[in-house]
Amino acid sequence: MSMLNEKVVMITGASSGIGRGAALAVAAEGARLVLADIDASAGEKVLIEVETLGSEAIFVATDVTDATQVERLVNAAVDRFGRLDCAFNNAGIEGAMSPLGDIDIGEFDQTIAVNLRGVFLCMKYQTSAMSKTGGGSIVNNSSVMGLVGAPQVAAYSASKFGVVGMTYSAALDYAEKGIRVNAVCPGGVETPMVAEILRDQPGVLENILAAVPAKRLASPKEVAQAVIWLCSDLSSFVTGSALPVDGGYTAQ
Ligand SMILES: NC(=O)c1ccc[n+]([C@@H]2O[C@H](COP(=O)([O-])OP(=O)(O)OC[C@H]3O[C@@H](n4cnc5c(N)ncnc54)[C@H](O)[C@@H]3O)[C@@H](O)[C@H]2O)c1
Repeated sequence: MSMLNEKVVMITGASSGIGRGAALAVAAEGARLVLADIDASAGEKVLIEVETLGSEAIFVATDVTDATQVERLVNAAVDRFGRLDCAFNNAGIEGAMSPLGDIDIGEFDQTIAVNLRGVFLCMKYQTSAMSKTGGGSIVNNSSVMGLVGAPQVAAYSASKFGVVGMTYSAALDYAEKGIRVNAVCPGGVETPMVAEILRDQPGVLENILAAVPAKRLASPKEVAQAVIWLCSDLSSFVTGSALPVDGGYTAQ
């Protein structure tokens, strides 16, 4: 059984890492896809990959911090497929790792702009489109750092706690309209973002794994499986949740 048969699913940050993994996994579940990313050349490659899996799909180059571009993205989905059923708002940046006092102010603003304002803009236009066709399911990508603090990531953590708060509030705004809003909160996932940190800071992986009960990183596919369940009708009574996908990290 395909979990997302014919559903129209939008994924932001689809060119790389968790977003690309989600695009491939969602395509395998029979969905039609609307892929978005600021990186158009990598996005076109992911488009070909999901089409090869048999998915009808479009890629729309989009900067999620730009309201006009996000509105155009949602309009493109509706123009192409007539509706929008699900969204995985995943585009995000890590920002530099440093103690709060050393965080560059422009970098703080950019982290909030992509990770928090970006999710706000996506939900603003997605909820409008979904309201017109009887509802839908939105999944925002937060992080374990949206549930607990960690050193060296004050801006990132602020943005990800913000995503969880916005998820809870939007779930209440739209519960009666049939739009479910949830978040996933991954721990460390094997992606280019994490590979970059591990390359720049030797020894970090050992420290991370020492704190993860499962003693390993997640694969993008393991995050995607949680997203697929939250998008699917199998989670029909689940809204306003922030689901850790973290090998037990936040249970400690
Ligand atoms: N990798 C992890 O361990 C981990 C853990 C928890 C949460 N996350 C979250 O998962 C999401 C994806 O991270 P990833 O690890 O796959 O990173 P990644 O860098 O591999 O992918 C992020 C994607 O977002 C895109 N992007 C960046 N800024 C954008 C913008 N302004 N508009 C549109 N697209 C933009 C990038 O081009 C890239 O394709 C992020 O929100 C991240 O915070 C990652």
